[in-house]
Amino acid sequence: MILLDGKKTSNDIKDEITIKVAELKAQGKKTPHLAAIIVGNNGASVTYVNAKVKACEKVGFESTLVQLSEDISEDDLLAKIEKLNNDDAIDGFIVQLPLPKHIDEHKVTLAVSPAKDVDGFHPENLGRMVLSLPTFLPATPYGIVQLLDRYNIETSGKDCVVIGRSHIVGSPMSILMARNTKVGNCTVTLTHSRTKNLIEYTKKADIIIVALGVPEFLTGEMVKDGVVVVDVGITRVEDASKKSGFRLLGDVKFDEVAPKCSYITPVPGGVGPMTIASLMMNTLQAVENK
Ligand code: GUN
Repeated sequence: MILLDGKKTSNDIKDEITIKVAELKAQGKKTPHLAAIIVGNNGASVTYVNAKVKACEKVGFESTLVQLSEDISEDDLLAKIEKLNNDDAIDGFIVQLPLPKHIDEHKVTLAVSPAKDVDGFHPENLGRMVLSLPTFLPATPYGIVQLLDRYNIETSGKDCVVIGRSHIVGSPMSILMARNTKVGNCTVTLTHSRTKNLIEYTKKADIIIVALGVPEFLTGEMVKDGVVVVDVGITRVEDASKKSGFRLLGDVKFDEVAPKCSYITPVPGGVGPMTIASLMMNTLQAVENK
């Protein structure tokens, strides 16, 4: 069993970006600038956004963090987005999800200019992904593709089961794994809460990508020997023995599943850091697109 080390791979990618940023600066070009909007104080979201800002510093990007109160109105948030759309200094920006219930996530996604949508959530960018046109791939699926690519994992002709059909991970992931690209050419089954006899699919799968947010959902008996498992889940579970008061659990029962795998991502240190590396890649791409 080989661990797919997202932390190391993400550091490799960030090192590559650092060199490119230094080249841009040496040529007197603009320093890439990423902005992030966060609404409210959700603990996990604050941690993720701070990690994104830290990654910007590491690669030499400029960053702007826009912190908004939990009770901001939808109109005021849309106005902030429009300001970033029109700010030439900002090359790309993201709105951290989830948003408070009184804000319509779809309206927000649609409001972000597709040229600055480095999260790849805008329908125009998702549509371009489906058509294999140049676009910003959604950060987590892009990170998973990078990880599979950099470990030279053969995907062509394989049976891939994606568990979970979220707009930001499961659905785009299922499309990417079926595309006619180096990482791709799988026969994909997208499973979800209404899937009957899930185990019948997972047992046959060569590659399983789990993005449910249900801790330790995928158990040893559900997978075959030699499977490649990508665990997108990262749930905080109360743990009084930890200084933080919680520990992080993936969607995979690691102790049972890992011994059966050819490759598996750990949690933490697997998909999470790759999401951030992808965001950096997309931001650099936004600058190059200009
Ligand atoms: N919330 C969970 N994952 C993501 C992500 O990739 N981007 C944004 N903006 N919010 C998220």
